[in-house]
Amino acid sequence: MARLTDTDRGTRADMDSFAGGYFRNAVYRHWDPDEVDIAGDRRELLDYEESFSGEEFDMLRLAVARFGGGEEAVTEDLMPLGLALDGTDEQLFFTTQLYEEAKHTRFFDRYWEEVLTPVAEELGVEVTEPTDERYLNDDYVALFDAVERSMASLLDDRSPEARARAYSHYHIVAESVLAQTAYYSLQSAFSSSGDDDVVTRPRSKLPNLDGLVGGIARIRSDEGRHVGFGMHQVRKLIQEDNVDEAVVREVLTELMPHVAGIFTDIEGPVDHGALVSYAREKLTRRLDIITEADAEVPPVDDLVAIERAG
Ligand SMILES: [Fe+2]
Ligand SMILES: [Fe+2]
Repeated sequence: MARLTDTDRGTRADMDSFAGGYFRNAVYRHWDPDEVDIAGDRRELLDYEESFSGEEFDMLRLAVARFGGGEEAVTEDLMPLGLALDGTDEQLFFTTQLYEEAKHTRFFDRYWEEVLTPVAEELGVEVTEPTDERYLNDDYVALFDAVERSMASLLDDRSPEARARAYSHYHIVAESVLAQTAYYSLQSAFSSSGDDDVVTRPRSKLPNLDGLVGGIARIRSDEGRHVGFGMHQVRKLIQEDNVDEAVVREVLTELMPHVAGIFTDIEGPVDHGALVSYAREKLTRRLDIITEADAEVPPVDDLVAIERAG
């Protein structure tokens, strides 16, 4: 067993710190991707067979394949960040993020196996794999390649600029702008709580996929912490380590066309224009929080106390 040095002893975790509070919140909000009830989605998709055509079913598969692939990619790409964090609190939080990305991957895999494949068989359409290249496009590949490169670069370069670039790729563009827009689109299309301005037909003609949307709600809550952590770190790098905010802006400008390009070939019941403006608005809001000196990333530690008190 490694001997503890004085420095190690001096850096015990502090649950009152920003990352410590996020860690506690993650532990408290634990959920199991195998326990989300998705059986009703199978029936719903078969009931709506007439108004929700075979082609649209394949678009739903495309969306789930891109989500699952994205979650799997970010699970694998996250590791180098663990080596680049110096604080114990940050490292504790990091383990929850890694674990949660793996849970998100599991949820989408399960949805494929237990809902999409049996429905495809029942409808008599081709059974496909989520890893099939037909579900990717060039912008999707380019974006995730860029995220992987920026994270892997931390193995050789842990400078404040390299860290700010990595957080901008991963936490701001992939997890915040891209994933949140995609979740918003699925929720709008397949939930009675969705945004009617985004769907291009009456909601009564669309299946209610409560299992998918319920899993996504859990995932979004986890992602809220991941994004909050990344934003907090980027703000610190700008304010305390003098990283030029242009570093962040450059990454966002470079990647935004890929984010838009990921949605343009989806021919589902959602309006592309509405989605792209949602993504742009998210991006602008993130930039404001990062660059405005008096803006704040919400701490979540008090949420734990509030929920416990009932
Ligand atoms: Fe995730
Ligand atoms: Fe995440």
